[in-house]
Amino acid sequence: MITDLSPSDCSKYASALQASKLVENGMKVGLGTGSTAFWLVRHLADRMRNESLNFVGVPTSIRTRDQAHREGIRLISMDDAGRLDITIDGADEFDQSMNLIKGGGGAHLQEKIVAFGSDIMVVIADESKKVNKLGRFPLPVEVVQFGSISSQMKIEEMLFSQKYKDFNIKMRMNNKKPFITDEGNYIFDLELNEIADPRKLCSELNAIPGVVENGLFVDVCSAIIMGYSDGTAKISWKKDIKN
Ligand code: A5P
Repeated sequence: MITDLSPSDCSKYASALQASKLVENGMKVGLGTGSTAFWLVRHLADRMRNESLNFVGVPTSIRTRDQAHREGIRLISMDDAGRLDITIDGADEFDQSMNLIKGGGGAHLQEKIVAFGSDIMVVIADESKKVNKLGRFPLPVEVVQFGSISSQMKIEEMLFSQKYKDFNIKMRMNNKKPFITDEGNYIFDLELNEIADPRKLCSELNAIPGVVENGLFVDVCSAIIMGYSDGTAKISWKKDIKN
């Protein structure tokens, strides 16, 4: 199977395969969203069928929910789950402190709730996601539809006050209409180039009325499993990292 895949898909397949092995019988598992998390759901379904692995999943998007249904994975709601044992999800960028940018697929609100509601969060990624400083990937910010332009202006003011220069804020579009998240909100993508202080930016953004959640995941990722195009993968735990 893996021989049919592109080098990029091989890496995703490999990191997701290793992550799927962290799931044990009886666990409540947060299921991420995106092209890497797609493979995770596949691998977990394989383990369920081949090894009788018994677990329940909490999906982070309608897309993942639908895939998990098709694969026959038992799902429960976040409220029914309470606390989760593990969440496994992709990322758009990660830095050496294992802080992340997520939300390229527009699912970061549910992804963040699920990640913070888990004992551990494991990111599955390939080398292209590793950066020295977060910010090359546009930072997604989910806002309620009401007063979205006013929220955009407040975001601009805040960025100027934080000494960000030459930034761009773009409303995410889908077929010439605003992209709508699973929660019915809009997304602004912030082109910043470099984020000096992810923790500070995260809290400043979330303090703006109208902002629901931003795609910075600070101090929540416990480990990263990096997949490689030769089909191997390597896990690094946060406790091994010197900040
Ligand atoms: C979804 O909203 C995102 O947070 C994804 O987890 C992230 O974009 C990674 O996706 P890929 O695995 O497709 O790169």
